[in-house]
Amino acid sequence: MSANLNASPTNSSDIGALEARLVNALNEAAMLQLISLGHRTGLLNALADGEPVTSRELADKSKLDERYVREWLGGLSVAGLLQHQPENMTYWLPKAFGALLTDGGEANLAVYSQYLPLLGTVEDDVVRCFRHGGGVPYDRYTRFHDVMAEDSGQTVLPSLFDAILPLAPGLIGRLERGVDVLDLGCGRGLALMKMAARFPSSRFRGCDLSGEAIDWATTRAAQLGLNNLCFEQRDLTDFDRSAATEAYDLVTTFDAIHDQASPLNLLRGIRKTLRADGVYLAQDIHASSHHHGDRDHPLGTLLYTISVMHCMTVSLSQGGEGLGTMWGRERAREYFDKAGFRHIEVHQLAHDVQNDYWVLRP
Ligand SMILES: C[S@@+](CC[C@H](N)C(=O)[O-])C[C@H]1O[C@@H](n2cnc3c(N)ncnc32)[C@H](O)[C@@H]1O
Repeated sequence: MSANLNASPTNSSDIGALEARLVNALNEAAMLQLISLGHRTGLLNALADGEPVTSRELADKSKLDERYVREWLGGLSVAGLLQHQPENMTYWLPKAFGALLTDGGEANLAVYSQYLPLLGTVEDDVVRCFRHGGGVPYDRYTRFHDVMAEDSGQTVLPSLFDAILPLAPGLIGRLERGVDVLDLGCGRGLALMKMAARFPSSRFRGCDLSGEAIDWATTRAAQLGLNNLCFEQRDLTDFDRSAATEAYDLVTTFDAIHDQASPLNLLRGIRKTLRADGVYLAQDIHASSHHHGDRDHPLGTLLYTISVMHCMTVSLSQGGEGLGTMWGRERAREYFDKAGFRHIEVHQLAHDVQNDYWVLRP
């Protein structure tokens, strides 16, 4: 859509362009809802082979109700995502599209389609917050940790050893020889599991507020036989006081600073718990700290929406600062500096337009 909506809409062609854009957005958002359903029910993966199927065949293969499957096929063929042969009522997902929407490809974009339906489950709560203030607590988002783990499973895990850890020169060698590692706001802890398996001489700990995420992680780590890894349910709001002094060589946070109740307390605690030659690696959202600075951000509107519907409000629900998803580079640098980090570098990685990768040292 070419209309520049940052300029004042002064003529009817601007209004007409907006109208067309809004209608298009309704269709595109509806397509995302169908993609989310297709991801969660396994329908998209069942179509990954690109072979034509009838609704009955697909429903039987996926063990789903045929009437729902038929309506879903109708919607996605109208959206142009599926091909449809009306003579024999078959449908198929072109293989090139399947590479973007199923588990076989490099990154499954269907994973991200789950965010808007997930956030929609708390819309009534957020409307209440607009009227009366306060926030929506983490436990209201019933599928949050499912979706988050799938998301970071695509943005963090495949690049951990080849791109993220190498940002700190020498770090991989230290992990191989054996160091103490702490991941804060670890969620389901998949990054820690991957590191613990690769670096058996190092010791790993993950902390998160969510009992559900920590139980999941503890069970999974035991199933994998990872004896050098443990998890702890812990509120990190007063980490500046509760952190053990100079206890870790590497601290990591993946997308976990901006939605904290007190990001600065957490950062001060990280500084305190790092040994003198320690490294803090932080993945956090790539943004400017100014609304006008994010006009060209490829995911700007989405990330502000996630902020209103999740990151800002979960922090406010803990009586926190409500920093918001889009706190941005300038503010992040200011916080890292206030927390006492003297060596601050920021990187962007080719695979991840959404995040910055910070390498921080005392
Ligand atoms: C956006 S998620 C990231 C999870 C994980 N690092 C990942 O990349 O999959 C942020 C995490 O911070 C945790 N968190 C939020 N507030 C917290 C607090 N006060 N203390 C500890 N953890 C907190 C949440 O439970 C959530 O798992």
